[in-house]
Amino acid sequence: MRPIVIAANWKMNTTPADAGDLARTIASRTREPGVTRVICPPFVSLAAVRDALEGEDVATGAQNVHQELAGAYTGEVSVPMLAGLATWVILGHSERRAYFGETDELVGKKLDRAVAGGLRPILCVGEVLADREAGRETQVVDAQLKGSLEGRDPATLLAAGFVIAYEPVWAIGTGLTASGADASAMADAIRASLVALGWGSAAEDVPVLYGGSVTSANVGEFLSEPAIDGALVGGASLKPDEMAGICARAGITAAARGLTS
Ligand code: PGA
Repeated sequence: MRPIVIAANWKMNTTPADAGDLARTIASRTREPGVTRVICPPFVSLAAVRDALEGEDVATGAQNVHQELAGAYTGEVSVPMLAGLATWVILGHSERRAYFGETDELVGKKLDRAVAGGLRPILCVGEVLADREAGRETQVVDAQLKGSLEGRDPATLLAAGFVIAYEPVWAIGTGLTASGADASAMADAIRASLVALGWGSAAEDVPVLYGGSVTSANVGEFLSEPAIDGALVGGASLKPDEMAGICARAGITAAARGLTS
């Protein structure tokens, strides 16, 4: 049975001085049976968020990690540095791809390192608007998955709790969203890509989240799709009211899917 995951991507927002309070408020307002919660603050706020979440069933995640363990990589953070700070990591976010030149090959190396170091990865894929307008969205996502997953052992990734987030780039931070039906079709296409990569029936065990302008008002459209298992939330994840609404809706889906018993 796939979990329902609501992951907050705070991006480059919050400071160590205010992140703890925000995390504590969100945690206290989002307790829903069967809903797995993750908060991904900036690196420098991880310790504050971890401390604030003590005793709460909310995980902390990083938004990125370097592919090497240590060395002359000024400004970077490695997997061993995250020990005790984060148990999840977002990889291949479209902003990392667009602004920091991350390729599928690089994302694959980060994935290997994260899994070897015990971090639970959320691999982000998604097409830009021109690809969707040209009807190429499935091919683009297929190539992203192939480029970062080919040759990896499905069982190892499953054991690491591997999650995929489908985030159409044109929907991120824009207020636009895919339709629930389109997101569901892409989740099916993602699992078909995994099958083509040799995953067999294990493809059905991978949670697929939707991301891109998710709010408490629209999350139900995605969560009512059986192929979608949660959301990666950006802008709305900084707002406790929004997170409360999103997780409450996720709780309904968790109950409907029998995850709460
Ligand atoms: P958004 O961001 O919810 O602000 O669109 C989602 C994301 O980038 O993960």
